[in-house]
Amino acid sequence: MLSTAATKRGERHSILPIPGGPVRRRTCESVTRLDYRRLMKAITYTEYGPPDVLKLTEVEKPTPMDNEVLIRVLVASVNPLDWRVLRGKPFFIRLLMGGLRRPKATRPGADVAGKVEAVGRSVTGLKPGDEVFGTCRGSFAEFACAPEEKLALKPAGISFEEAAALPVAAISALQALRDKGGIRPGQKVLIDGASGGVGTFAIQIAKQFGADVTAVCSTGNVERARSLGADHVIDYKREDFTKSGQRYDLIVAANSHRPIFDYRRALTRDGTYVMIGGGWSQIFQALLLGPLLSWIGSRKMTFFMARITRTDLAFLGDLLADGKIVPVLDRRYPLRDVAEAVRYLEDGHAKGKVVITVEHREA
Ligand SMILES: NC(=O)c1ccc[n+]([C@@H]2O[C@H](COP(=O)([O-])OP(=O)(O)OC[C@H]3O[C@@H](n4cnc5c(N)ncnc54)[C@H](OP(=O)(O)O)[C@@H]3O)[C@@H](O)[C@H]2O)c1
Repeated sequence: MLSTAATKRGERHSILPIPGGPVRRRTCESVTRLDYRRLMKAITYTEYGPPDVLKLTEVEKPTPMDNEVLIRVLVASVNPLDWRVLRGKPFFIRLLMGGLRRPKATRPGADVAGKVEAVGRSVTGLKPGDEVFGTCRGSFAEFACAPEEKLALKPAGISFEEAAALPVAAISALQALRDKGGIRPGQKVLIDGASGGVGTFAIQIAKQFGADVTAVCSTGNVERARSLGADHVIDYKREDFTKSGQRYDLIVAANSHRPIFDYRRALTRDGTYVMIGGGWSQIFQALLLGPLLSWIGSRKMTFFMARITRTDLAFLGDLLADGKIVPVLDRRYPLRDVAEAVRYLEDGHAKGKVVITVEHREA
């Protein structure tokens, strides 16, 4: 069982990665490369739109900045963030990303697992050849750059696929339960949207904290939720947990599809609701009404943003290596089929994680 205090150690460095985010001065002379090819294959897009705008192209290999690492990408994984940014909808996403008419960052993909190819001048903890996982800019490519603090060493006993499935989804589940939700042993915890990337990790992590876990998912995923350790499973097609009279100490909405008042009704008197994701209307309700409802009542209603940290990556990597959590790998696609992978995820019924495998030509 995990203790909240013990797992809260470590510094917080960064918020969720912005794909292809701000690029500072490049320092070609500061890096040691293993592979001298100048060009690489990468998925790119130059206009907002559906997954069809994603193209496999040949582009210049990126060069890491002083604090960055160049990674030879072996496996990437897809997150809803990828299709949200691709669509550029609603419009405020474009404001956040800094590309009003056209995307400024043209290389999608954040989750990554691979080998360090080169390191920038001020990188001290990693060296060429190290096996790493974490988040980066543009992981749907043969090579990608990431700040050192957004990467952790991959434990020897886990595969690159398993490692690539972890970063955004497992960190979101961990931080929502532990940091925002203050999860404690014996609490009644409900995970809504328990069968996707975040939800499948949330069930397992909540069990590690000693909670009594209820998973909410559709009929076809009930057995999987049980096999991941859920003590109770509610099929949302047959039963409405907000009307059962059961109350929960902590509700984590991995994929929220209900009005915020429904969740509030299902909380104990001092219960906490943490909204990770879902429909835009649910996100706006959590952002705008959440603080007000928390202020006027004893229940806490909060929205949450994950922060990628090396400490939490390493913590989750250890849980995986010890067999305490397992990533549920739904589908794998080769790099050329990223558009199909993103389309599948956007349909909203992935069963766990979708990964992209990247094959490399000889240097
Ligand atoms: N705030 C943050 O920092 C943060 C971080 C990561 C992700 N997110 C957000 O969190 C959300 C979930 O991410 P994810 O990676 O888990 O996505 P995902 O893998 O695409 O989630 C799909 C899952 O959602 C479930 N679902 C769909 N409709 C549902 C409903 N009406 N009730 C309950 N479950 C339903 C599906 O289960 P069934 O097939 O059983 O219906 C499916 O397994 C996304 O909106 C994402 O943008 C936010």
